[in-house]
Amino acid sequence: MEEAAAQPGFDRFDPAFLSDPYPFYKMLYNQPPMVLELEMRTVLLARYADVVAALRDPHTFSSAPIREISQAHIFGGVPTLILSDPPVHTRLRRLVNQAFAPRRIREMEPRIRQIADQLLTRAERAGSFEAMKDLAEPLPTMVIAEVLGIPSEDYQMFKEWSDALLEVANVPPGSPPPPGFEEALEAERAYFRQRYEELRRNPGTDLMSGLIQAQENDALTFDEVAGFFNLLLLAGNETTTNLIGNGLYALMRHPEQLEALRRDPSLMPGAIEEMLRWDCPVQATGRNILHDCEFAGVRLRKDTVVVVLNGAANRDPAQFPDPDRFDIRRDPNDHVAFGEGIHFCLGAALARLEGSIAIGGALSRFPHLRLDDRREQPRYKKSFNVRGLISLPLSIG
Ligand code: HEM
Repeated sequence: MEEAAAQPGFDRFDPAFLSDPYPFYKMLYNQPPMVLELEMRTVLLARYADVVAALRDPHTFSSAPIREISQAHIFGGVPTLILSDPPVHTRLRRLVNQAFAPRRIREMEPRIRQIADQLLTRAERAGSFEAMKDLAEPLPTMVIAEVLGIPSEDYQMFKEWSDALLEVANVPPGSPPPPGFEEALEAERAYFRQRYEELRRNPGTDLMSGLIQAQENDALTFDEVAGFFNLLLLAGNETTTNLIGNGLYALMRHPEQLEALRRDPSLMPGAIEEMLRWDCPVQATGRNILHDCEFAGVRLRKDTVVVVLNGAANRDPAQFPDPDRFDIRRDPNDHVAFGEGIHFCLGAALARLEGSIAIGGALSRFPHLRLDDRREQPRYKKSFNVRGLISLPLSIG
């Protein structure tokens, strides 16, 4: 077993890569994981089997940051569900699982439909439909605000904070935080403190009230409650926005698939899975190696940074026949868009529900929905781990 040599050819800030990473991924499928000397020694996992094996082994592939890297500051350095390993992760996950149980999610369906209807009615009256601004961005923020016990009117403010905080993933480690980051963090914390006091005095049936209750019973610390608030705000927003945006865009580029879905709406659940696989909103997740080990033919040293390319695994020909084909009837479709193992997305059922209500709602409200060919092609945001469109103007006439 040889120690893998560092290889060039991967720049996660390269605009060409960010606009279309899929051609680049192809060179990663026929070789052992690529090791790179970036700011820190880094290994790329792209093959489906490697991605799944790593995500199922938290004792080697840790989610806890090696040291105070920039992302950790979003959570004030406190252990957070997504950045923790067992046993901390096990305790935190148990406390929130209940709030995301399938029954609780089904109960939210009428309210989500109501929000989607309101947004689509507004666009219809305005006579134009910019799918990101009019639907994909506001819907998930309004829904998560309600889960957190926050008036949905405040969603605009939340969207701004969450956008500013997520920008931190797009600056190289060691650089100063992006503009607006500190201000957004401070504003968000101040809002949280105020809301916390209100809900402590007057608890509701929302998740935040439940967590505050748990804190009062000493199951959680104040910082952990604040961390959850922050995590759900970030994890539940941009991701679902991009499922709706990328999903609608995929349908618009595949008119025969769009037609099939219009003719038979019972295909919607499978269509959502294919949207998640084909153009996945979370392209990459992070881990780090806890102890020297051999993995998939390479020797990995402790503290190596692991870039898990969920977006690449979802296009691996060894797992998905004809992987670049967008096929809403694909079966089986065991994609890893929501991750795998103990950190499997807590909000997956909610995201699937929001995605099908939003996309199904847009298709039935606008029977002639299509890409506007007089405009330039929609462009993707310049982000490595989160993949989504800047705007998606569609023609409704
Ligand atoms: C299409 C939308 C979404 C996608 C693609 C997505 C994707 C993911 C992925 C890939 C992970 C695993 C991260 C890792 O392994 O390090 C994850 C975890 C998580 N997601 Fe989502 N997510 C979505 C929507 C949501 C929503 C709506 C919520 C909450 C309301 C949510 C909350 C979380 C949380 C709390 C975790 C951490 C779970 C843990 O560490 O145990 N996500 N998500």
